[in-house]
Amino acid sequence: MSSRNRVDIIHGVNLNMLGRRPAEHYGAHTFDQLEQHIAGYAHALDLEPRFFQTNHEGELVEHLHRVEGLADAIVINPGAWTHYAWSIRDALEIAALPAVEVHLSDVDAREEFRRVSVISDVCIATVKGQGVEGYRTALTRIKEELGL
Ligand code: DQA
Repeated sequence: MSSRNRVDIIHGVNLNMLGRRPAEHYGAHTFDQLEQHIAGYAHALDLEPRFFQTNHEGELVEHLHRVEGLADAIVINPGAWTHYAWSIRDALEIAALPAVEVHLSDVDAREEFRRVSVISDVCIATVKGQGVEGYRTALTRIKEELGL
């Protein structure tokens, strides 16, 4: 297996509550089921996933500070932090790895505040509104970016 195939799958605030969040936006999967699907997509693409979820903004920032040498790319769904957490945007910039932003729901078709992403300028792509399948799209984009 290539040594450049390690992908950090990062989930931010409230994503661990999937299964108890509005199914019309996020689907009926639990968080564990979501991670199982993502692991399946990653392995089918010969990528090695590593998972991280937190509800604490500073923990996510520190995780990104430590990522150097441990991952080759990032897939990130920051949850509501997407819309206002400049600290996470700056930490992603510091991590300096190819990152794809994912949203399960179609954030452009919901409330006005969800249309803003403070991280998109430090990501190579954004995937939204594809539900769990969006992670396959994101990982495919990462694989292409890594030249695998
Ligand atoms: C989300 C969209 C965000 O607006 C929301 O706060 C989330 C999940 C999504 O995956 O669709 O928690 O990032």
